[in-house]
Amino acid sequence: MQQQKQTSTQSTSQSTDILAAKRIKHTRIGDVMMELDTLIYPGSKDSILLVCGPSGAGKTTLSRFMVSSALERARLEMEANRGIIPAIYVEAPSSGENNFSWRMFYQRILAELGDEMDYPKVVYGVDPESGRMVKPRGSSGNTLAALRSAVERGLKARGVQFLVIDEAAHIIRQTRGEGRLEIQLDTLKSLANTSGAQMIMVGAYDLYKLVSLSGQIARRTHVLHFSRYREDHPEDVRAFERCVSAFEKTLPDLWGGKLSQHSKALMRNTLGCVGTLSDVLKRAARLADASGGWSEEALERALLTEAQRRKILDEILDGEAAIEPSFIRILDSSEAQTKQKKQQ
Ligand SMILES: Nc1ncnc2c1ncn2[C@@H]1O[C@H](COP(=O)(O)OP(=O)(O)OP(=O)(O)O)[C@@H](O)[C@H]1O
Ligand SMILES: [Mg+2]
Repeated sequence: MQQQKQTSTQSTSQSTDILAAKRIKHTRIGDVMMELDTLIYPGSKDSILLVCGPSGAGKTTLSRFMVSSALERARLEMEANRGIIPAIYVEAPSSGENNFSWRMFYQRILAELGDEMDYPKVVYGVDPESGRMVKPRGSSGNTLAALRSAVERGLKARGVQFLVIDEAAHIIRQTRGEGRLEIQLDTLKSLANTSGAQMIMVGAYDLYKLVSLSGQIARRTHVLHFSRYREDHPEDVRAFERCVSAFEKTLPDLWGGKLSQHSKALMRNTLGCVGTLSDVLKRAARLADASGGWSEEALERALLTEAQRRKILDEILDGEAAIEPSFIRILDSSEAQTKQKKQQ
């Protein structure tokens, strides 16, 4: 009995680990990466690019793909010059304070650049009378300005072409006060200009809405839409089916060849978002393993509830309407009607 339980726990965690390690380079990822490739080049005027998409679309996964494929492409150059880092991923910190912590943000970038964080940016002295640490005269110490110039120097020295900033809404959401929004983005823009690295801000639709609060910024920022796969676009349906089948091939024994037949139901339930699909399948794998094998019931129990699905759909429809107004005209009519009723 003890033995049986252990084996089952082991295989459950193994299935989840195998699914969690799987990375599908699906159509949307390929499309957005191709668009970004054409927009990222030395001397580009698009110093800040915005990538927005629904929650659970796989934005973090896309961000990591972008960085790893840039590193892969630059492999020979990196072998020849070990100091080169063509692309960097950082998550914008959510400090819990009222204002965005540029300090934490710069420290994260420096950590990615391989900067030795244990040392202050200048050497501190000790006052022989008080025994306190003091900044040498004329130095800026580990101030924000010193961190900022270390980041600028580091980005230049490492030849960073672009910096992906995930959860970028944190930079703006924690911004209070008139005109602060412009200041935050100008800070980023000037970092891009002085270092020569383009900034790719990644986030859910609220990032786009926040940026649009300032017409001046909205006009100057190029936006890429990392959209869900839509049920009313046949090519999207096929692309989503390929994702389901890729997940199925990852654990063929567990699903017993019966997953793909549920592609349409999975697409409807997960709203065509591959990250949400992955989460549902990880749950289904655990439930199936725990109950001794695959069953439709395990899959059903892993799905989003209708209330969850509706909530996510509402956010998606709002985001799509803001980012690309033409989307609302081609909505599935029943979903559009429900939305209209709600807005009345
Ligand atoms: N292309 C993919 N292949 C395999 N798994 C994926 C893929 N995209 C996303 N996932 C998985 O789905 C989950 C959610 O994805 P991810 O975190 O990238 O989504 P997100 O859009 O960043 O979500 P959030 O809105 O919460 O930030 C993760 O566990 C991730 O590993
Ligand atoms: Mg994410």
